[in-house]
Amino acid sequence: MSEKINRPHVLMMSEITADGKLTLKKGASSKILMKYMAPETEILLHQTRAVYDAIMVGANTIRIDNSYLTVRLIPGKSPLRVIPCSMADIPLDANVLGKDAPTAIAVCENAPPDRVAAIKNRGAHIIVAGKNHVELPLLMKILKEKFNVNKLMIEGGPTLNWHMLHHKLVDEIRLIHLPFIVGGSDTPSLVGGMHINSEDEMIRLNLKKYYMCGSNLVSEFDVLYREG
Ligand SMILES: NC(=O)c1ccc[n+]([C@@H]2O[C@H](COP(=O)([O-])OP(=O)(O)OC[C@H]3O[C@@H](n4cnc5c(N)ncnc54)[C@H](OP(=O)(O)O)[C@@H]3O)[C@@H](O)[C@H]2O)c1
Repeated sequence: MSEKINRPHVLMMSEITADGKLTLKKGASSKILMKYMAPETEILLHQTRAVYDAIMVGANTIRIDNSYLTVRLIPGKSPLRVIPCSMADIPLDANVLGKDAPTAIAVCENAPPDRVAAIKNRGAHIIVAGKNHVELPLLMKILKEKFNVNKLMIEGGPTLNWHMLHHKLVDEIRLIHLPFIVGGSDTPSLVGGMHINSEDEMIRLNLKKYYMCGSNLVSEFDVLYREG
């Protein structure tokens, strides 16, 4: 209980195909799939962003998708954009470093100082959270205590999703189901990382709501972690 007080409430939100994939193939931008979202669902995504204090995606999503992560389709304030990037090596011309919304790049103590300085020069906050890599529980604590982030949404990719779940940092999951199958054994799916070894390690979810948004099914789950 006390752990939760030291971190924001976290929602994982994703567009996902019927076979659980987040994009067409490894290395492909999810913006291609997102073109097939119903207009009503795109609005739902932007409405969700507008009521969250911060939005986080992994550094690889920035490299591949070059996301903006702003609120554009409805009136509303864009959340703080947070990118964990241990060695501060996202491209300096990334859209997320533009002036449309505030951005915080989380790095580790060993990140090269010249890269950190170059990101700072683009106007982003730098959060140092960990020695050799970004430690997500520490990052969550800093976001809550120093940036007043009470509600955080994460929009992938699979590597970040796995690490957040592995550290028991996700409270809710909202999935936008796209009626396609893309296949591919190495195509990124909702959660990457390491496989589990027994059923005891399965992360249990409670389906709390499902509804149509335009032509897309949306499902909402609470994440039920085991104690200990
Ligand atoms: N459909 C959707 O909703 C959706 C949403 C987002 C992304 N995507 C797709 O997902 C794919 C990218 O996913 P991905 O799994 O390759 O990458 P990712 O999850 O976006 O980013 C992972 C990277 O974040 C950095 N990172 C720093 N600290 C971390 C930490 N503590 N835990 C986890 N990551 C940390 C690492 O890069 P460094 O080692 O450089 O720090 C790591 O490799 C793309 O194809 C994109 O299109 C789809």
